[in-house]
Amino acid sequence: MPYAHITGWGMSVPPKVLTNDDLSKIVDTNDEWIRDRTGIRQRHIVEDESQSSATLGFEAAFQALRVANLRPSDVDLIICSTSTPEHIFPATACLIQDQLGATRAGAFDLLAACSGFIYALNMGAQAIKSGSAKNVVVVGTETLSRFVDWSDRNTCILFGDGAGAFVLQASDEPGGIYGGVMHSDGSGGDLLTLLGGGSRHPATELTVHTGMHYIHMDGKEVFRFATRVMAQATMDAVAASGWKVEDLSIIIPHQANYRIIDAAARGLKMPIDKFMINLDQYGNTSTASIPIATVEAAQQGRLKKGDKTVFVGFGAGLTWGALAVEWTGPLSTEKSVHPERDRLYGRARSLYRRIVRKIEKIIWGRNE
Ligand code: UT7
Repeated sequence: MPYAHITGWGMSVPPKVLTNDDLSKIVDTNDEWIRDRTGIRQRHIVEDESQSSATLGFEAAFQALRVANLRPSDVDLIICSTSTPEHIFPATACLIQDQLGATRAGAFDLLAACSGFIYALNMGAQAIKSGSAKNVVVVGTETLSRFVDWSDRNTCILFGDGAGAFVLQASDEPGGIYGGVMHSDGSGGDLLTLLGGGSRHPATELTVHTGMHYIHMDGKEVFRFATRVMAQATMDAVAASGWKVEDLSIIIPHQANYRIIDAAARGLKMPIDKFMINLDQYGNTSTASIPIATVEAAQQGRLKKGDKTVFVGFGAGLTWGALAVEWTGPLSTEKSVHPERDRLYGRARSLYRRIVRKIEKIIWGRNE
């Protein structure tokens, strides 16, 4: 059975930064409260329509392909985890596939809220281990700022926009993604919701006026749930891989609240500096937070080939999960790989198909 290695990684955040002081001009809050209760100092948010979950996801995914030195046309499968998709359909994964020029890839979205990247990574790894895919791109992307009620200080201070992506590749060399756990408890579904716009509550004047297109959260209950599950999920993923917690060089948790990560560290009896934390810069980017933190850990030299780590997260649903990973790095050093040239070729094919479809429509329209 092949192993599923993480061989490429990338991230993208919009340039616009919203500081705590900026927020204090919009709602009744202040920098000190936000820093003390969450650890967040600033977040990045999208501006106009040129920035979206698909554009951020594409940028992160293409960076990841470059690190992996892999052509878009080599990708077999794209899984996009998001709670803020571009549309209900088509899937954001298909928009990313088109932008990448990944002409051979299957593509689908997966929704498990802030735990989504762990679920998606696990599914990508399973596709490789079962032999049904060799090269998989897993993307986590969010534009939560588009669904935040900017008059609700309980939620608007927490979230940020961004995307992260990994390339997974098959190899017979041991390493990559080992054991993991995925859990859910729908009885807590009402604790963190965005109810409007789905089939139960399609958009109407009433859903707009009653704020159903915004995120609603019982922060205290979500906090309690998170502190209960993080340490246990980490231990379960480690045990499922035949490792010990002491083997871990670093833990990369979902970046929701410094106090939640601190509670997990205490639960695991590990020093807090073993945890990668960058939520001060980005806020809670939901499913994108783990890959963004991983990219920065790799850039800072905190993740080296052979290091053992655990990704652990929790979120709406309720969902939670963890994956144990031995860090690899790029497998291919082949010089003749040109991801950019290959992408342009894929994009040209996509444009050609669009034109052919338009011409066929005109011809068929005349014949009817
Ligand atoms: O990815 C998963 C997403 N969600 C989470 O991870 C959220 C988990 N929960 C949390 O992180 C925390 O519960 C929050 C950061 C959301 C809130 O922190 P807390 O320590 O649980 O505060 P609280 O809701 O109990 O509020 C304490 C006080 C209240 O005032 P009173 O009633 O004591 O007078 C709030 O009204 O703080 C007030 N408050 C604020 N004050 C200034 C609530 N939000 C703010 C604010 N600025 N932004």
